[in-house]
Amino acid sequence: MTESKANDLMERIVSLCKRRGFVFQSSEIYGGINGFWDYGPLGAELKRNVKDFWWRVMTQRRDDVVGLDATIIMHPKIWEASGHATTFADPMVDCLLTKKRFRADQIEPQSGIAYHYSGAEDSTDKAKTSREPYSVLIAPGKHPEYARKVARQFYAQRGIVEARLLEERTEELENSIRFNPENGSLLTEPRLFNLMFKTCVGPVESAESTAYLRPETAQAIFAQFKTVAEVSRQKVPFGICQIGKAFRNEINPRNFTFRSREFEQMELEFFIRPDEAVEAVCGSVARPAGPGHPGEPQANWGWQMWHKYWVEERLAFYESIGLLRATLVEYWQKPEELAHYARATVDILYKFPFSKRDAAGELAGEELEGIAARSDFDLSQHQRFSGKGMGVFDEELKEAWARLDESKKTALSKRYFESRRNYLVKTGENPAGAEAKALEEAAGLARGNYVPHVIEPSAGVDRLALALICNAYGEDTAPDEKGKMETRVVMRFHPRIAPVKAAVFPLLKNKPDLVKKAREVRDLLRPQLTVFYDEAGAIGRRYRRQDEAGTPFGVTIDFETLGEQGAELKDTVTLRERDSMKQSRVKIDALPALLLERIR
Ligand code: GAP
Repeated sequence: MTESKANDLMERIVSLCKRRGFVFQSSEIYGGINGFWDYGPLGAELKRNVKDFWWRVMTQRRDDVVGLDATIIMHPKIWEASGHATTFADPMVDCLLTKKRFRADQIEPQSGIAYHYSGAEDSTDKAKTSREPYSVLIAPGKHPEYARKVARQFYAQRGIVEARLLEERTEELENSIRFNPENGSLLTEPRLFNLMFKTCVGPVESAESTAYLRPETAQAIFAQFKTVAEVSRQKVPFGICQIGKAFRNEINPRNFTFRSREFEQMELEFFIRPDEAVEAVCGSVARPAGPGHPGEPQANWGWQMWHKYWVEERLAFYESIGLLRATLVEYWQKPEELAHYARATVDILYKFPFSKRDAAGELAGEELEGIAARSDFDLSQHQRFSGKGMGVFDEELKEAWARLDESKKTALSKRYFESRRNYLVKTGENPAGAEAKALEEAAGLARGNYVPHVIEPSAGVDRLALALICNAYGEDTAPDEKGKMETRVVMRFHPRIAPVKAAVFPLLKNKPDLVKKAREVRDLLRPQLTVFYDEAGAIGRRYRRQDEAGTPFGVTIDFETLGEQGAELKDTVTLRERDSMKQSRVKIDALPALLLERIR
């Protein structure tokens, strides 16, 4: 698909979302608010189905994961411990002419001729001068007068209405990110901008009452780790998951809902033994042997196996709701891209129509989810900042340790000591202090104590909803009421996440027997699945409306249902399938089980 076709497709998707009530701008009657989106009736159902299915798969169907529903505003110390208070920032730049704001790391590099000026004076009033230097970059071959025109606009904003530009100088530049790609104007120097939204707790606005809207749900899980482990009587390895709102004051929200300022996350923190503990208990640590799912979890898995396991589980999740493997990319972050505490991170990307393209022109994909092996960084940080122990006691480890020979004990202690000392030095402890603490912690390991490591699959609900919408969107042809072929927009959602599962239609609205029977069928299905009842307009038109909503099944109550075409068809309905448009007759009694089977 070419770029312009992809843009066109995205426009049609956005327009359908608005027209059919999937997603629209927040506060639209006041002109909207950038980076905030509302989900209409169909979008709200879609999102709910995505979250419910994630929750079912990630916790309800497992023995080793439990849930949490924590507050959005938490103690501000949490964000100091996590590093968000100091490092959760993006570099921003402003256009010196239009004041438009960009993320410095998202500026496309440009080449051309830069026109530099040392200032300007007003040709009608020499007293008016500006000594502010300014530059404009223009593409090779573009007329220099363009650069001068932009520069005059810049100085006009500084009160030099009839600007005579001073000391024009040119310079050839390659791959510069210092200029606005839209007009060539110089940008400000990059400044770091913290993405957390601030608020104030209580009636007095002061430094002490400042709090933040959480930028991720993960930190509450770390902060409550000990309590949840205790009350749920879980032992490592086990996980805690949470779904909830997160807020980031993104410099440049873009691509519809893809980068929003308010969004929802579905996060799992899966706590595991450090590899040294696994080795002490099992004798060795299993490592991934090749591609593919590593199978059922085993006691001898170290962080690499657990990481691989969760990458494969998450890919399987996406496939189970209709995102084919060919539309996904498994991207292993390069060592230089990893956060300092991460041992490995895999991003699962979806090939959105607006995704960047690789050298071969193929869609490269944009991030849906990150699966990070975060070592013991997070719990260690909360231990340090709160002064409360975040370690666990592992009886099996204590017993296994006692049975180890001395050389094994020394080797494992040394490795554990080194990894703890590295963490302590990296997070600001002086070398002597780090050495002493790490020694103490290595001795603790021998007694069965350690701070668990974590694997974190972290997904965005809104990005997934957008991927599912893009993935479902299709156009084909179907006959209208008169049999003439017309273009049909059809949302081919997987039945599991489709907003409405079945639509029920009486063939004609003005036949009371049909309407009565259709309402009975609606009431029969409603306790078990989301049903939409529609009696308005020609039946073809009603089918078309449901195709656009992505409803996988249509149930029509017709004269056959009433037994008017023969007793054998009495109490049967027409079941229409959205994708194939095939129709079959099904007994009303058999309908609930059949539909439940198809949407599960
Ligand atoms: N706890 C780890 C964490 O928050 P992240 O990569 O910053 O990691 C995880 O975010 C997921 O949250 C992303 O993969 C994405 O799906 C979603 N997400 C992050 N920022 C977002 C934004 N501004 N708008 C929509 N979704 C976002």
